[in-house]
Amino acid sequence: MKVDVLLGLQWGDEGKGKIVDVLAPRYDVIARFQGGPNAGHTIKAGDRKIVLHTIPSGILFPETTNLIGNGVIIDPLIMLKEINDLKEVGIDAPAHLLVSRKAHLILPSHRLLDAVQEINRGDGKIGSTLKGIGPTYTDKIARQGMRIGEFHEPGFMQNYQKHRDAHLRMADQYRVNSSDLKFDGFDFDTYERNWLEALKTICEIEQVDGEYFVHRSLWNQKSILAEGAQGTMLDIDFGSYPFVTSSNTITAGVCTGLGLAPANIGRVFGIVKAYCTRVGSGPFPTELHNEMGELLRKTGHEYGSTTGRPRRCGWLDLVALKYSVMMNGVTHIFLTKADVLSVVDSIGVGTGYQRDGEEFDTMPFNQQDLQPVLIKRHGWNKDISQATCSQELPEQLHDYIRMIEQETGVPVSIVSVGPDRAQTVFTRGF
Ligand code: GDP
Ligand code: IMO
Ligand code: MG
Repeated sequence: MKVDVLLGLQWGDEGKGKIVDVLAPRYDVIARFQGGPNAGHTIKAGDRKIVLHTIPSGILFPETTNLIGNGVIIDPLIMLKEINDLKEVGIDAPAHLLVSRKAHLILPSHRLLDAVQEINRGDGKIGSTLKGIGPTYTDKIARQGMRIGEFHEPGFMQNYQKHRDAHLRMADQYRVNSSDLKFDGFDFDTYERNWLEALKTICEIEQVDGEYFVHRSLWNQKSILAEGAQGTMLDIDFGSYPFVTSSNTITAGVCTGLGLAPANIGRVFGIVKAYCTRVGSGPFPTELHNEMGELLRKTGHEYGSTTGRPRRCGWLDLVALKYSVMMNGVTHIFLTKADVLSVVDSIGVGTGYQRDGEEFDTMPFNQQDLQPVLIKRHGWNKDISQATCSQELPEQLHDYIRMIEQETGVPVSIVSVGPDRAQTVFTRGF
C-alpha cells in the first residue's frame, strides 16, 4: 500500500477540507502532516457546516481513524474548541482521533511572540494568522520546543514555565505597546489559564508514535490519505518568501511530517481553485483590484475560515500552477469553485509575467511587482451547482478544464460545483 496525498496548489483555501471529506469514506486513515490552527478547513454536509483547524477532515466518518502527525503543531485550547464544536453536532472526535507524541505544542507565549514580531515588521508584515505558527516552528528547529508527549513526563510544568519566561523576556525586548496585544480579545493570563486546562483534556486523547502507526497501517493493507494545510505558494522554501508560512506544505512535507519514505508516496491530488485567492500580504501577480475582484469575493464568499479577513481575489495563474504541479509530483488535479466563475462573462487566465520589459514563463526568484500576461476565455454563464456528471457541465467549462490539463499535463479528475459534499462531479476515473 502507498499513501495518497491531498494538498493545495495555490495560496491555501483551495477547498481541501471539502474534498478530503468527500474522499474520506475511501480511506481507513486521514493524517494531517504539517501546519497548525492557521489552517481552516470547511466541510459542508447538508445543514452541517464545520470548520476544522487541527483535526483532520475525515472526522465526520466514525470508521475513519484521524491522525495528527508529528509535523503538525497544536494549540490545545483551539483544538478543544474544535472537539466541543464537533460534539455539538453529534461527533465524538476523541473516539477516532490519534495524536503523534512528537507533535509540538504552541504555547500561549508563542502567540504573544507572533504578535509582537508581526507588529515589529511594520509595513513588511506577513499578515500572519497570529496563531503562534512562526515562533513554534522556530523553537522546534532551534531544538528548544515542547512536544505534546512530554506532558506525561515528570517536570513538565517546570519546563513549561522555563519556556514561557524566556519567551516573555524576548517579547519585552520588542517594546510593543501592551494595548496592541489585545488582538482577538487575547489576554495572556486568561489565555494561559484556559490553555493549561485544555491541555489536560487534550492529553487524554490517545497518543501514538505516529511513524510506527502509519507503517503498521500500511503493512496491514490500510489505506491512508495525507491531508495538507495551506498551499504550495505558502511553502517555507518555495513560496513567496518571506510572505509564507513556516512549514513545508509540499509533498516532501508528508515524509518528514508523518515519518514516511518517498517510496511510500502514491497518488498526489492537487487542489486547485478555478481562480486564485490569497489572505495576508505578499506577491499575487493576477490579483484583481477592481469590481471583478469584488464579484469573485462576493460570489465565492471569500473570507478567511480562520480569521474572517477578506481574501484577495484574482485570475488563475498558470505559471504558479505549473510550478506547484512540478514540485509536488501531482498525479490528479481536483478543480474547486468552478460554480463561482458562472457569474463571469469573460474569464482571465495568467500565462506569464512581465517586469520592466522582461518576460517570465517560470517563477522568478523575486516575485515583487510582476504584471500578469493574461488571456481571455469565454465564460459559461450557467448555473452548474446542481450538475452531477461530466455531461452536465457546459462546453466552455470543458474547454477551461482541457486548457488546465494541456498546460499542466495532469488530468482534472474532480470538478467541485458547490461547498456541499454532494456538489462534486467526478469527471474521470481515479
Ligand atoms: P481549505 O482551507 O482548502 O479547506 O478551504 P477553506 O475551507 O478555507 O475555503 C474554501 C471555502 O469554499 C469554504 O467556505 C468551502 O465551504 C467553500 N467551497 C469548497 N468547494 C467549493 C465549491 O466547489 N464551490 C463553492 N461555491 N464553494 C466551495
Ligand atoms: P488553509 O489550510 C490561507 C497565510 C496567512 C499569512 C501567511 C503566514 O486553510 O489553506 P501564519 O499564520 O502561517 O504565520 O501566516 O500564510 N496562511 C493561510 N492562508 N489558508 C491557510 O490555511 C493559511 N495558513 C496560513 O494568511 O499570509
Ligand atoms: Mg482554509
